[in-house]
Amino acid sequence: MPMHNAAHFNGIKEAPLKAIIPAAGLGTRFLPATKAVPKEMLLVVDRPAIQYVVEEGLASAADEVIIVNSHDKQAIEEHFSPDPALVELLRERGKDSLADKVEYVGNLPVTFVYQDEALGLGHAVLCAAQASAGEPFYVLLGDVLVPNNKMLPAMQAVSDAHGGASVIAVMPVPDDEVSRFGVIDGEEAEPGVWKIASLVEKPPVEEAPTNLAVFGRYLLSPRIMEILADVKPGVGGEIQLTDAMAQLLDEEEMYALVIDPTDGFDTGTPQSWLDSNIAIAKMQA
Ligand code: UTP
Repeated sequence: MPMHNAAHFNGIKEAPLKAIIPAAGLGTRFLPATKAVPKEMLLVVDRPAIQYVVEEGLASAADEVIIVNSHDKQAIEEHFSPDPALVELLRERGKDSLADKVEYVGNLPVTFVYQDEALGLGHAVLCAAQASAGEPFYVLLGDVLVPNNKMLPAMQAVSDAHGGASVIAVMPVPDDEVSRFGVIDGEEAEPGVWKIASLVEKPPVEEAPTNLAVFGRYLLSPRIMEILADVKPGVGGEIQLTDAMAQLLDEEEMYALVIDPTDGFDTGTPQSWLDSNIAIAKMQA
C-alpha cells in the first residue's frame, strides 16, 4: 500500500494540508463551569484556550483550520465571527487596540464542521473527513496548547524525512503517571524520534512499554479517515482515534516525535488548566 500520494514525498504537497481541531466534547471534568461555557473557551492568561490552537494551526503548513464543533457550543463560533458593531463602539470610545484585537480574532480564517453527539475523538476527526479531501492532515486537540507554534513544523520535518509517514507528538511523563495516558511502544530511530510498533492505552505502570505519552498533536495519513469510518466503538463506547491509529500501523509506518514537556500544555482538567495559566503567564512576562 503506498504511504501517501507521490506528490507528498520529499515534502512537496499537491494540496495544502488542513488542521482539524476537535472541540465538540462535553468537558465533563470542568463541570459545572462547562455547563454554559465550552471548555475550549476558558481563558488562558489573555485568550480563550482555543484561540492559541487556531493560531498554532495557522502558523503551520496548513492552509485552513477546521474546528469540529457542537451546535451546543455556539460561543466558539461567536468568538471567531466578526462583530463590526463592537469594533465600531470600541473605536468611537478611543479603544483602538481592543478594537484591533476583536477585529483580528473575528477575521481569522476558521471554518466549522459539526459533531452533535460526542461519540469520541475518532468520530470528531471523521466529521472533518470531507474537508480534509484525501490529503494528510493535522489534528490539534482543542484543549492542548503549544504557544511557541513549533511542534507542527518539527513533526512535518520528521514526516518528510520518512516518506510522508504519519507522525504523532509524544511527551515523556513520570512513570507513576503512565497509566493515565496512551503510550507508544517501538524503538528510537534517531535522537528524539521513535518508530512506533504499537500503541497501548492506559497501561498499568509495570506493563508500560515506555513513558512516552500521546500528547495531542498528530500529522496523519488520509488512510486514517477510511479506517475511522469502520472503527467500532471502543473504551467508553467512544470511537477512539487510538484504535484507528493502531490499525493504521498494520499498513503504514508511523513515527513519534518526543517533545519537550515545557513546550506543551494540557488544559483539560481544572488542575492542568491552572498550571498552564501560571506557566504561560510566566512565559509571557
Ligand atoms: P477530551 O476527552 O479531553 O475532552 O478530548 P472532553 O471529552 O470534552 O472532556 P471530558 O473528558 O468530558 O472532561 C480532547 C479534545 O477532543 C474534543 C474535545 O472537545 C477536546 O477539545 N472531543 C472529544 C470532541 O471533539 N468530540 C468528542 O466526542 C470527544
